[in-house]
Amino acid sequence: MPFFFISFTCLRYVLVFDDRWVNYVKKWTVCRGMDVINMKMFKEKLRYLKNSAESCRSIPSDFTGKSHHMYCLKGLIKSISEPVVTKVSPYGKSYISGSWGKQAQRDGVDQPDTYWVLSLLNSNIWGTPSAFTHIRGLHAVQEQRDFTLAPSQTHTNAVEGPSAVLYGDALFYHCYRSADICRYDLKTNNVKRVTLPGTGVGFNNKFPYCYYDCRANSDVDVEVDETGLWAIYATVGNHGNLVVSRLVWDDRAESLNVSQTWETRVFKKAVTSAFMVCGVMYVFYAFDTATGREDNTLALPLEKVVKGVASVSYNPVDKQIYMYNDGYLMAYQASF
Ligand SMILES: *[C@@H]1O[C@H](CO)[C@@H](O)[C@H](O)[C@H]1NC(C)=O
Repeated sequence: MPFFFISFTCLRYVLVFDDRWVNYVKKWTVCRGMDVINMKMFKEKLRYLKNSAESCRSIPSDFTGKSHHMYCLKGLIKSISEPVVTKVSPYGKSYISGSWGKQAQRDGVDQPDTYWVLSLLNSNIWGTPSAFTHIRGLHAVQEQRDFTLAPSQTHTNAVEGPSAVLYGDALFYHCYRSADICRYDLKTNNVKRVTLPGTGVGFNNKFPYCYYDCRANSDVDVEVDETGLWAIYATVGNHGNLVVSRLVWDDRAESLNVSQTWETRVFKKAVTSAFMVCGVMYVFYAFDTATGREDNTLALPLEKVVKGVASVSYNPVDKQIYMYNDGYLMAYQASF
């Protein structure tokens, strides 16, 4: 039975944020050769974070990750399929850095069957003005539109790094050379921003995701799950460890806000990528932290798919995991 992480990586930790603001670190190993998920918790790694003063409790041994959210009743991911989509980026294979996905808002969107691709066309680091493409109908393309997020690649609203999500009427991404998240409105073309909390938020390759080679400018990762928007990054104040902030778009005030922040003890540069599902952060390593060796079993069943994972994100509507694998666009089905 194929697991996503069997073929090319080991998923080592799941960080759980629950509604009582307690952070748990669990060890979860899904490696090749295993067809069960080892859910044994990492007792000594249980950490209480600064936000957790309100209540602390130990992890129940039967923790399932289920929450009361109506789309989160099934708990943690049990398995991930082989790729269900493999395509070459419309910009071509030479653009190895970027991200892609599908409209991530479930309700109230005009065109739910909308995919998007963001390739970083300039030195694989920055998005040039029209680097964001909006595609309706992936298999039989009905419409394709390019958007201009900023007038130049060094404009304050330009994209930095390979992470974005399309959520509702807007594309959310890390803004050029800043500690800010930008929200580009597809209807009005307006950009709103918010500065991430923390002392010394890393950007411009201070705390990128590193796999073997670090992925250029992957310091700030924007993700979305059933419960909303998230930013995953690292700060000097938290010693380069992952920090997770919840983002909220206030429609009335037309303001992008940060509502909560958690600090973890996972060093960001040791991680390949991370994504959120039902308030749980899934962190994975293409580097095997148990053996200290690169996991070189990146043999995805697609000819010449290269090793580089530029970005990974989860879509809470179709429950697929979207990966920009160098210039290839891949998607995998998660099962719960
Ligand atoms: C977001 O921030 C703005 C500006 O500071 C504020 O007016 C608004 O009430 C905030 N909204 C939420 C939902 O916190």
